[in-house]
Amino acid sequence: MELSKISASIGQSATLKLNELANNLKKQGKDIIHLGGGEPEFDIPSMAAQETIKKINSKRVKYTGTSGIVELKEKVCEYTKENYGINVKPENIVISSGAKQSIYNFLFCAINPQDQVIFPAPYWVSYTEMVKMVYGEPVPVKPSKGLLCSFEEIESHVNDKTKAIMLNTPNNPSGLIYGAEFIRKIVKLCEERNIFLLMDDIYNKLVFDSEIVPSAFSFSSRDINNSNIVSINGVSKTFSMTGFRIGWSVASKNLTSAMTRVQAQITSCPSELSQVAALGALSEGDAFTRRMVKELEEKRDTLVAEFKKFKKLKFEKPQGTFYSFADFSAYEKNSQKLSAELIEKIGIVTVPGAEFGMDGHLRISFCGKKEDIVRGVNKIREHLDKA
Ligand SMILES: Cc1ncc(COP(=O)(O)O)c(C=O)c1O
Repeated sequence: MELSKISASIGQSATLKLNELANNLKKQGKDIIHLGGGEPEFDIPSMAAQETIKKINSKRVKYTGTSGIVELKEKVCEYTKENYGINVKPENIVISSGAKQSIYNFLFCAINPQDQVIFPAPYWVSYTEMVKMVYGEPVPVKPSKGLLCSFEEIESHVNDKTKAIMLNTPNNPSGLIYGAEFIRKIVKLCEERNIFLLMDDIYNKLVFDSEIVPSAFSFSSRDINNSNIVSINGVSKTFSMTGFRIGWSVASKNLTSAMTRVQAQITSCPSELSQVAALGALSEGDAFTRRMVKELEEKRDTLVAEFKKFKKLKFEKPQGTFYSFADFSAYEKNSQKLSAELIEKIGIVTVPGAEFGMDGHLRISFCGKKEDIVRGVNKIREHLDKA
């Protein structure tokens, strides 16, 4: 049977594919160091575990309202007020099965066929495919220098077909933060041109060196129900709860109600078990995340110290997340080729920059064990610098 054209056009998730490959090679007994990971290796918060167990012991795990349980939505409202300074109500929140679903819900509700969605490169691997899945046109914009686009570079791609701009800061894969002035101008541009601004804030608590991640809401005078800003967040990264699959969106009442209708037809609701776990995590609060950030910062420093030993590597010190995006083009311009060579010859898994829209780079994560970071990066250096 012939499959749909759209399904045939969708690429496999490069990062998930590499996870599978790394696990398979490990199972075969190969000495593999996985520097391509996308999740913290921390245990989940105690309160998340306790709430899950309590719920299981009640022996009642059922459907919930489509947009999530009220207690969790209220908690997200508190979180939004605390972290973004904006007043929102449960009617502005949809809890979803991961931030990924929240982004897809948004695109499904905002994009008509051929509408354009702009996002800076390097970008998260799923953006291009998700935009294509709603028959939109992805418009990635490559910075002319460095790893951050200027406002003018983004602005020059806006036209009558532009329906949304998506911004992920701190950024996967670069670990860099877009500055306040950039965000302020983007917010203004989106308001003037009537464009949605999707802020993918999934890493906004994972920042180092007391950096501040500017909130888009702080540059708008509109209340949430008149706002064209949509903020996406969740517990996957901040609370090391990737396996629970809980994310959420904060948006106008109108958009939220459309996203709820869409979600109702796709997944009915997120898992009740995961929602109570997320409520537990949010109740435990910032102390958990602060501990994790401290350790991630040390790992970032370890990675940077190792990077400095290369003869020809160029890199920018990550300001947040647990990713770095180093420029290996002085060694090999083709990142797919280089990444494959590192797996085959020395058993190190990295993600090719081409997957994020910038060849010549590799994404190297520092979410794993410190000794793996040191050993893995050293092996890459010995392999490349000896040539
Ligand atoms: C930039 C970005 N946005 C969204 C997500 C999705 O998060 P979740 O696991 O909650 O679906 C990820 C996950 O890797 C990500 O890197």
